[in-house]
Amino acid sequence: MEIFKKEVLAGLQKSHKTLSSKYFYDDEGSRIFQEIMDMPEYYLPAAEMEIIERHSQVIAQKIAGEELDIVELGAGDGRKISHFLKVLHPFVDHLTYFPLDISQGILEENTKLMAKEVRGIKIEAMWGDFFISLPKIRDRKTRRVLIFAGSNIGNFKRKEAEEFLQFIDQELKTGDNFILGVDLKKNPRKILAAYDDPHGITKRFNLNLLNRINKELGGDFELESFDHYGTYHPITGAAESFLVSLKDQKVRIGDEVILFQKDEVIQTEISQKFDLPLLMELSKNVEFRIDSIFSDSSSLFSWVLFRK
Ligand code: AVJ
Repeated sequence: MEIFKKEVLAGLQKSHKTLSSKYFYDDEGSRIFQEIMDMPEYYLPAAEMEIIERHSQVIAQKIAGEELDIVELGAGDGRKISHFLKVLHPFVDHLTYFPLDISQGILEENTKLMAKEVRGIKIEAMWGDFFISLPKIRDRKTRRVLIFAGSNIGNFKRKEAEEFLQFIDQELKTGDNFILGVDLKKNPRKILAAYDDPHGITKRFNLNLLNRINKELGGDFELESFDHYGTYHPITGAAESFLVSLKDQKVRIGDEVILFQKDEVIQTEISQKFDLPLLMELSKNVEFRIDSIFSDSSSLFSWVLFRK
């Protein structure tokens, strides 16, 4: 059985039902995520963009060299990174950009935009799970900067985040850098509004996962029979999303039947918010160290520059 189906069924057969947010991003999900990024409540992209505008020059000077690979994990459409690469390009003679993403549609957009916006850099798109694609270019001799932006690390559970950082560690040689974008703890209402928007876009984003299961795994979820519920816990820093069953119902996925009670939930996403103690804690077992932290003027978001 394919891994998507296996994970979906295993998640829905647990006593607390779960679905992994990594499956949000089929082509439709990636499109809805772009809508999220354009809504005023979702402050993350604007804050990260401000960091790029304010600090790219200094970051470029820190990582400059004759040859450099920029490898971006979960690259998306590349809108923001193109500005960074524009500033970086004059500091590097041979710059190669590797966008890695699981959505082929979004990768095509990325490479098109990058070729237009940053003329003269080499682009090597890699489609698929970055845990598989990144090791494939491990043997390149070129010094590299890995980038995991957008606070995508927030989607990992604590243990997964630590394992992810250990995976990054393995892919870095001494002298390489890692840039990690993290959303910071802040006023809880601001965070909640970003994940429970009044336009219903985040709701559509969550429900699209059920629609994807319908399309790809032969499911028969009725989307009208589920609601979206978002929460934020200001002490743990976890923003969590759920789908709530609005009635007792049976859902078929292929040959399997899943029972839902009215008001039973499926946990679909955690978007962890960070502070320095948490970052130190998560990176305690890796060989790379924090070199500097760059933030926007309102301290909503940070780019953490690590060096090994
Ligand atoms: C793409 C993981 C950064 O968690 O903020 C946006 C995804 N989920 N709204 C996030 C998301 C709901 C987003 N990341």
